[in-house]
Amino acid sequence: MDHFNLRNGQLHCEDVPLADIAQAVGTPVYVYSTATMIRHVRVFRAALRRLHDPLIAYAVKANSNTAVLATFAAEELGADIVSGGEYRRARAAGVDPSKIVFAGVGKTAEEMRLALGEGLFQFNLESVAEAEMLSQIATAMGRRAPVGFRVNPDVVAGTHAKISTGSAENKFGVPLGDAVAAYAHAASLPGLDLQGVAVHIGSQLTSLAPLKSAFTKVGSLVRELRQAGHDIKVADLGGGLGVPYDPGKPPPPSPEEFGAMVHRVTADWDTRLVFEPGRLLMANAGVLLTRVIRVKPGAVYPFLVIDAAMNDLMRPALYDAWHAIDAVAPSGERATLNVVGPVCETGDTFAMAREMDAVAADDLVVFRSAGAYAAAMSSTYNSRPLTPEVLVDGGRWAVVRARIDIEHLIAADPLPDWLAR
Ligand code: LLP
Repeated sequence: MDHFNLRNGQLHCEDVPLADIAQAVGTPVYVYSTATMIRHVRVFRAALRRLHDPLIAYAVKANSNTAVLATFAAEELGADIVSGGEYRRARAAGVDPSKIVFAGVGKTAEEMRLALGEGLFQFNLESVAEAEMLSQIATAMGRRAPVGFRVNPDVVAGTHAKISTGSAENKFGVPLGDAVAAYAHAASLPGLDLQGVAVHIGSQLTSLAPLKSAFTKVGSLVRELRQAGHDIKVADLGGGLGVPYDPGKPPPPSPEEFGAMVHRVTADWDTRLVFEPGRLLMANAGVLLTRVIRVKPGAVYPFLVIDAAMNDLMRPALYDAWHAIDAVAPSGERATLNVVGPVCETGDTFAMAREMDAVAADDLVVFRSAGAYAAAMSSTYNSRPLTPEVLVDGGRWAVVRARIDIEHLIAADPLPDWLAR
C-alpha cells in the first residue's frame, strides 16, 4: 500500500497534489511519501516480531538521499552500506554507527579506516584477502574489527540475471565450501573479531524458496563453525524481498510470510539476525513525475515523448523493468502507447505497446514504484540535469535534492590552461 492516490481526479502524494510540485519545481522530479516509508518500516518490523532484537539495516544504495536516510534513522533503522560515501551519508543523516553494516567486494583501505575509526556493527567480508587487509589496518589503528564472512550459497535466486548474486559464478562472497577454511584463517588474524556470517542472494525475489534454501545452508554453516570453535553471534540474512510493480501480476511473498519463514528456519540458531531491506522499504514510496513533451506518430502505436529519460530512470533499459505509468489527471480514456524519453538511444524506451491512460502534450504522468534504484542510479547523460527529489510529509513538502543543472555541470569541468579562452 502507498500514499499516492487520486483525490478529486488529481493524483496526490499524501495531501499534496503532484501538479503543485510539478508547477513549483519543474519536471522531471522524484517525489517520495514519508507516510509510505514509515508504513513499510512498521510492516516489516511487525513481520519480524517473533525474532529477538533483529537489526534492520536499510540498504542505502536503494535510495541514498539524506532526507530519506534521516527518515529511516528516526525510525531507528541501521544502514547497510557499500562505500565510504554511503557511510558518510548515513552518518550525516543521523544513523547510529553501531547499526551500520559494511558490505561490498571492493572495500578500500581508506574506506576500512573511515568505518573503523567512527565505528560500525560489522564488516561483511567477501574474501580472505580482504580479511588480511582489514586485520592489518585494524591492528595499525589499535583496534579489532567486528567481522563476518559473506558466504555464497550457490542458489538460483530466480530474478533478473543482473541482480542475482548468490550463484557460484557471481563475484559475491566466499564459496560455502571454502567458508570453514576462511574462518579458520581469519581467526588467526590479530585485528579481527570474528562474530558473524552473512548472505544475500539477489534482489526483487518473488519466491521464498531460494531464500529459504540459502538460509538453511547458512544455518548448517553456523553449526559447523561453532563446532570448529568460532563464537558466531550474528547472522545477516541480507535483503532482496521483491515488491509488487505490476498490479496485474500475482504479488510477491508478503513481509509477514517472509518473517514466518525466517522464524521457522532460524529457530535454533541463537544468533542476532540482521536484515538489509532496500527496495521493500523504498520502491513504492516514490514516483517519478514527468511531463509529456509531445506525441509522435509511430509505425504501430504513437510514441509518447516525455521529459524523463533513461538517465533519470535506468531500470527499464538495464533490467527490462516494468513500471506502472499513470496520468496525474486521468480523463478516463485509455490508449496504447510507446513511452520514450528524449535521449539518443533506442534503449531510452520505458514501455512499448503499453495500455495506459490517454494523455496529450503538456499532461503530467508518473512512473510508480520509483523510490528505489531510481534517483540513486540517475546520471547526467546527454547533459541532462540531475533530477531533483522532493519529500512529502502530510500536507508539507520540501525539495531534498536540488536540480543539478547545466551550469553546475559546466562548472565541474575546468578547462586546462591550453584550452581556456
Ligand atoms: N544487501 C546487499 C548486500 C545487497 O547487495 C543489496 C542489493 C541489498 C542488501 C538490498 O537488496 P533489496 O532489498 O533492495 O532487494 N539496481 C537493481 C537492484 C540492485 C540490488 C543490489 N544489491 C534494480 O534496480 O533492480
